[in-house]
Amino acid sequence: MNVLVTGGAGYIGSHTCVQLIEAGMTPVIFDNLYNAKAAVLDRIEKVAGKRPEFIQGDVRDKSALVAALKTHDIHSVIHFAGLKAVGESVEKPLEYYDNNVNGTLVLVDAMRAVGVKHLVFSSSATVYGDPASVPITESFPTSATNPYGRSKLMVEECLTDFQKANPEWTITLLRYFNPVGSHPTGEMGEDPQGIPNNLMPFVSQVAVGRRDFLSIFGNDYPTPDGTGVRDYIHVMDLADGHIAALKRLNHRKGLHIYNLGTGNGSSVLDMVKAFELASGKQIPYKIVDRRPGDIAECWADPSKANKDLGWAATRSLQDMTTDGWKWQSLNPEGYPE
Ligand code: NAD
Ligand code: UFG
Repeated sequence: MNVLVTGGAGYIGSHTCVQLIEAGMTPVIFDNLYNAKAAVLDRIEKVAGKRPEFIQGDVRDKSALVAALKTHDIHSVIHFAGLKAVGESVEKPLEYYDNNVNGTLVLVDAMRAVGVKHLVFSSSATVYGDPASVPITESFPTSATNPYGRSKLMVEECLTDFQKANPEWTITLLRYFNPVGSHPTGEMGEDPQGIPNNLMPFVSQVAVGRRDFLSIFGNDYPTPDGTGVRDYIHVMDLADGHIAALKRLNHRKGLHIYNLGTGNGSSVLDMVKAFELASGKQIPYKIVDRRPGDIAECWADPSKANKDLGWAATRSLQDMTTDGWKWQSLNPEGYPE
C-alpha cells in the first residue's frame, strides 16, 4: 500500500516512514523541507533498508499534490506537514493558519480530485486546552489558547464537516501527547532549528554541552513536585499508532478520533532525572517564572486506541531518554546539512 506522508522528512513523519516500511507499506514523502534536512532520507534508508520516494513540495500547491497522488498510486495520506511552535504562532498567526488550515484544505481538495479517500491527520492534545481533570478522554471539551492550537482545532472541525458530507471517506484525527526520544539506533531523532521550544530537546542539548542550563518554567504548580506534568510518549510508539490506524481503520469509513499517549504523567523534574540516568550527565537547571499559557498537568486516557486499534505504547521513560541520548550524543549538531 502506497502512503503519501506529508511532512515525512520531519521528526514524527520520518520515524513513521521507518515503521511504514517495516510494516510492508511504501511511504512517499511530500515535504517542502521548511523544517527538515534532506539528510534524513539517507538515515531512513540506513535504518529501514529502503529509501522512500521524496517529493519536495508544499501542501498548499494543489497541482503538485495531485501529481504526487496520481503518479504514486496513493491509497492513504498521513498529514504531518505544518508549523508547530506555539510562541511563533502568536507572532505569525497568518502563517500558521495558511500552512496548517489552508494547507489541509488544499490537500483534501487534491485528494478529492483524484479519489483518494483515506486520511490520517496529526492533531494534538493542545485541542483540550486546560483540561478540567486528568486523564483526558476523547470526549473532553475542546478549546484553544493560541493560534497553533486554534489551527489544529479548526482543521479538526473542517475535517469533521467534510467527512459528514462525504461519508465514504475514512478520516482519523490522532491527538498526540508529548512525543520524545528517537530511533533506537540513534540514527534519527528530533533536530530543532535554533533554541528548542520543547523540554526534551533542550535537556539533551544541555547534556551534550550545547547549552549551559535548563530553565524550568515554574515549580509552584499544583502537582506532586510543583513542576508541569505531561504524558511523554516514545516517538516510535507514536509512529506505530499511525500504522495501527491505517491497518485497522481503512475499511471503516467514518471520522475517528484517538488520543495517542501512554496514560502516565511525568513532571519536568522526573524527566530531568531520567535523562541524567540515561546520559550519565548532570543537567544543571534554574527555576524561572511560569511560561505564559502553560497548564499544570495533561495526560491521556489512551484506552479507546488500545481497544479499537489494538495499539498501546510499550516503550518506557528509560527507553525514551536512552534513545534520545543516543541520537543527541551521536549527532550533537543534528542532521548534517
Ligand atoms: P516537524 O516540524 O519536525 O515536521 C513537520 C514537517 O512538515 C517538516 O519536515 C516541514 O518541513 C514540513 N512542512 C511544514 N510546512 C509544510 C508545507 N506547507 N508543505 C510541505 N511540508 C511542510 O514537526 P513534528 O514534530 O514532526 O510534527 C508533525 C506534526 O505533528 C505537525 O502537524 C505537528 O503540529 C503535530 N504535532 C506535533 C507535536 C510535537 O510535540 N512534536 C505534538 C502534537 C502534534
Ligand atoms: N518546560 C520547561 N523548560 C523548557 C521547556 C519546557 O520547564 O525549556 C516545561 C513546560 O513548562 C512544561 C513541560 O516542560 O511543563 C513540557 O513542555 P513542552 O514545551 O515540551 O511541551 P508542551 O506540553 O508545552 O507542548 C507540547 C507541544 C505542543 C503540543 C502539546 C500537546 O509543544 O505543540 O505538547 O501535545 F500541543
